[in-house]
Formats: sequence, C-alpha cells, structure tokens
Amino acid sequence: NTRTRLVMGNWKMNGNLATNAELLAGLHLGQPDPAVELAVCVPFPYLAQASVALAGGHVSWGAQDVSAHAQGAYTGEVSASMLVDFGCRWVLVGHSERRSMHGESSQLVADKAVAALDGGLVPVVCVGETLTEQEAGQTNQVIAQQLAPVLALGTEALAKIVVAYEPVWAIGTGRSATPEQAQHVHAAIRASLAGAGSQQTRILYGGSVKASNAASLFAMNDIDGALVGGASLVAQEFLRIAAA
Ligand code: G3H
Repeated sequence: NTRTRLVMGNWKMNGNLATNAELLAGLHLGQPDPAVELAVCVPFPYLAQASVALAGGHVSWGAQDVSAHAQGAYTGEVSASMLVDFGCRWVLVGHSERRSMHGESSQLVADKAVAALDGGLVPVVCVGETLTEQEAGQTNQVIAQQLAPVLALGTEALAKIVVAYEPVWAIGTGRSATPEQAQHVHAAIRASLAGAGSQQTRILYGGSVKASNAASLFAMNDIDGALVGGASLVAQEFLRIAAA
C-alpha cells in the first residue's frame, strides 16, 4: 500500500521539564527515516517546550485532547487554534482513557474531530473494545458504534483523519493484541472506511507496543503504524519501534 507509516507517542500525564528535555533531545537527534512519520502527543503545558526542542526536525508534535468548541466560556478546555499556535499537527480524540474516565461519547469524539479539522489539525480518532466486550464477541460491533459518527463526517474529512485501534485490554497491560487479532479488526475498520469513501485513511494499532513486538504488528497489511504509550517515554525504545 502507499500509506506512509506513522509512529506516534502518547506521553499521557507523564514527564516534567527536565525529563522531557532529555526525551525530546533524544528524539530530535534520532536518524530520520523518510518511510516513517514520527510524532509525539505531549501534555498541554509542555507544547511550548516540544515546539522549541523539535523545531526544524523530523519529529512532529501534537496534543492529547481538544475542545469541540472553537472559543468561549469553556473553563479548562483548549481549542484547536491554541494548539496550532504551538505548532501542533496532531491531536488525539476519544482515547479510551477520555471515554472511560471523562464520559466522552462517540458523538462528542466526532465533534472534537471536526473542531480539530476546522482548526487545521489532524485528529487521531481512537477506538477500542474492553475486555468484557471482547470476551462477549462484540469487538466489531463496538468499534462500528464508536466509528459511526466519524464515518458520517464524509469522504473529505475521512481522507484527512487517522484512526487508532486500541483494545482497552491491551493498553498498559504488557499484553498486546496478536498481529492476527489486530489485523482482523483493522481489516474491518478499513472496510468501513472504504464503504464511506476513503481508501487511504491510516489505521494505527495501540496497546503495549514495544520494540520487540512492533515488527510483527507492522508486517500486517492494514496496520499503518502505532500509537505508543509507555514505550514512548524512552527515546531509544520509541526510535527502535519506528525503525521496526
Ligand atoms: O495511546 C496509547 C495507548 O493507550 C497505549 O498505551 O503503549 O502504554 O499500552 P501503552
């Protein structure tokens, strides 16, 4: 396929000015590879730090959430245009931790994706089933429900977004989906995107990706890269994933 691979780190709520400086410098000094796009999604307060440390290099940056609103009386929210002010290219929307701990609905996630696109950002729309749902054989149905309001955004929007499949049971557990399990779900997502008119949307896998399992995941036809949590906090490990 012709989809450029994308390996994206999600720092979640980790780091401080000192540890970030070391991590960002390690990434910035890594060997660029034209076949792989590299990005990190950092906590809001460190966007300025990332924009300075990564300026002019091969690693782009983004945020982990965005408001569905453009501006106004939304205390604590951060808008897409604010993220663009700090050089962001990407923003995660609908990470499972936002869905489960902050009650984000699939419609809100789609609204956030629209706000991101309107502001000039690429939304990385995260979907994934829980262990209970997986054990009940509901995976494809859950993913379809989560994606439905996003698919409704239409071909033009779908051509610009990225989708990340992150089975909740694989996040931070050390237990990644097998390449075959992930490919199975990615193929279903690919089919639904194609049904909505988009062939080229990149689909990332996330959930306990590390250097030792990345190559086997990336060998799958419909896995276009990874969304990496824990292993993105160490520059050398993250760069090894990208090299895989
Ligand atoms: O956004 C990243 C995912 O939640 C994966 O986290 O790589 O620590 O399992 P993890």
